[in-house]
Amino acid sequence: MVTLRPWQPEDRPLLDRFNTPEMTAHLVGPETPDELDRRHRRYLSVDRPGGMLVICDGDIPVGSIGYWENDEDPGAVVWETGWSVLPEHQRRGYAGQALLRLLDVVRADGRHSEIHAYPAVDNAPSNALCRRAGFTLRSTRSFPFRGEELLSNDWALIL
Ligand SMILES: CC(C)(COP(=O)(O)OP(=O)(O)OC[C@H]1O[C@@H](n2cnc3c(N)ncnc32)[C@H](O)[C@@H]1OP(=O)(O)O)[C@@H](O)C(=O)NCCC(=O)NCCS
Repeated sequence: MVTLRPWQPEDRPLLDRFNTPEMTAHLVGPETPDELDRRHRRYLSVDRPGGMLVICDGDIPVGSIGYWENDEDPGAVVWETGWSVLPEHQRRGYAGQALLRLLDVVRADGRHSEIHAYPAVDNAPSNALCRRAGFTLRSTRSFPFRGEELLSNDWALIL
């Protein structure tokens, strides 16, 4: 049974487990410990719309999924989402189930009418996730990400 719970102070070690060359192959590569500390503080902060959630199977954390505002077009702010599942738990449907639960969360929030995901074009599991959850491919373009340009897909779902 997959559940989502808010990111907690004791979840900092999960960021190290996500920070391998394999896990970050489509995300520019591993971050420094300082960058991970900042990311952890950002995930704990409650002063912005959205949140980072831990994907759990029972009591076991298997990954994370988050949502935050994307105001690239200030006239049409949308939710953006992103996810990670630990290597030993991949290919068991956890990310797919977590995404369906996240859609319930953002629908209940009610603030924005669309949610988008921007996986790199060659991130096969993330693109499959979007397609399976009913997102529509809007465009493929270059996105600035951590100082680099990533050729990514813009997948959108009307909530
Ligand atoms: C993307 C990620 C979260 C998927 O997690 P997961 O729990 O293994 O995904 P699921 O088991 O729910 O599978 C989702 C879909 O991807 C497919 N898939 C999973 N692993 C795959 C792989 N290595 N190659 C191709 N397709 C794959 C599954 O078949 C499924 O598609 P389907 O429903 O059409 O059969 C995981 O691979 C990951 O953490 N990657 C590294 C971090 C990352 O790239 N995050 C995304 C940034 S946008």
